[in-house]
Formats: sequence, structure tokens, C-alpha cells
Amino acid sequence: MIAVYSLRDVISDGKEDKVKSLLSSFRCSLDRDAERYLKEKAIEHDIRGISRTYLAVDEGETPEDDTVVGYFTVAVKCLSVKENHNISAEIADKMNIDRGTAQAYLLGQLAKADGTGKGFGKEMMDRAVDIFIEANRALGCRVIRLDCKDRLVGYYGECGFVPVGKTKDGILNQMIRILA
Ligand SMILES: CC(C)(COP(=O)(O)OP(=O)(O)OC[C@H]1O[C@@H](n2cnc3c(N)ncnc32)[C@H](O)[C@@H]1OP(=O)(O)O)[C@@H](O)C(=O)NCCC(=O)NCCS
Repeated sequence: MIAVYSLRDVISDGKEDKVKSLLSSFRCSLDRDAERYLKEKAIEHDIRGISRTYLAVDEGETPEDDTVVGYFTVAVKCLSVKENHNISAEIADKMNIDRGTAQAYLLGQLAKADGTGKGFGKEMMDRAVDIFIEANRALGCRVIRLDCKDRLVGYYGECGFVPVGKTKDGILNQMIRILA
């Protein structure tokens, strides 16, 4: 059975060493940076309150048999919007842009382990969006943002995201989705 755990809860239960060994077997050949982030940064970022990471764990007969089949990381990160942006008026209005800045939730990472079935990423995306919906209920803020490679623009388009520009270095696409 696959269960989703907050890394924060696991760490505060005093199981940091256990979780480190669980993360060490995570492989994501399509995106080595996402693999490295989980192994090298996710715990530190959670402890510092920079972001929250959620692990999708395929639970085995015993805890030793558990494997991480995917993860996502969420955070808060505002988005700069240029004056000459080409975002549609309808979307720009919903972004509540104030002096060139839109407050936003960030989907910082989304990755599944090698060998995990097609479509599992979208299931994790749904879980992430549920978290943003809860945050929106409590705090407001309607924008979910992410940065992605050209190859994934179509994929995130299918998940309801629209492109709004490029990162400063011009490498990644900035995409947003509006919460209802
Ligand atoms: C992104 C991801 C979670 C989507 O999972 P999913 O919803 O189950 O969908 P799929 O794995 O079928 O991916 C959709 C398509 O994107 C492609 N794709 C996904 N990540 C890719 C990457 N990093 N580089 C190139 N292509 C990628 C897949 O090969 C697939 O292509 P296809 O439809 O032609 O077969 C998963 O593919 C993944 O873990 N990718 C590696 C990590 C990653 O790139 N994360 C996004 C960072 S912005």
C-alpha cells in the first residue's frame, strides 16, 4: 500500500536516521537533481522551515521493506511579474499582482522513482494541490507556481498550469495555476 508522509512529521518523531536510509535508495534517472534534492537538501530545508516535503512510501511487510516511490516539495515563494508581461487579463486579475509581485505557493519538486507507473506523478500532484487548497482556505493566495524544463511544459499544461515567462537565466519556464 502507498501512503503519503510529511517528512516533518517523520523527523519530529525522532526518526531522522531511519528516513535518511529510506531516502538513500531513491533513484530518479530522468532528473538527477530531483534525486539529489531529496537525499541532500530536503531534510535540511524542512528543519529550517524553507519548504515541506511529502514522501510517497510503498509500505512493505516490515519498515525495512518500505521504499520511497515518489515525493513532492511545497513552499511559499512570490513571483515577479514584469510590467510588459503577456499574461491574459483574466489570469493576471486573479493573480492579485501588487507592484510587480504576485504572492504564490511553490511546487518546488515533483518526482517519482524509476519504475513507478505512468500517471503516479499526477496522483502526487493532486495531493500537492490539496495541500495548497487547505493553505488557501486558511491564508488566501490563489497562485500555485513552478519552474520546469521545456520538455515538461505540455505535461504541466495538462495539469492546469499556464506559462507566464522564463526564469532570469532563461533556462526554465515559469508556470502558474490559479486556485478557484
Ligand atoms: C514529472 C513526473 C513526476 C510525472 O510523472 P507522471 O505523471 O507519472 O507522468 P510520466 O512519468 O508519464 O511523464 C509524462 C511525460 O513526461 C516525460 N518526462 C517526465 N520527466 C521528464 C524529464 N525530467 N525529462 C524529460 N522527459 C520527462 C515522461 O517521459 C513522459 O513522456 P511520454 O508521455 O512521452 O511518455 C515524472 O515523470 C518524474 O518523476 N520525472 C522526473 C522528475 C522531473 O522531471 N520532475 C519535474 C521537475 S520540473
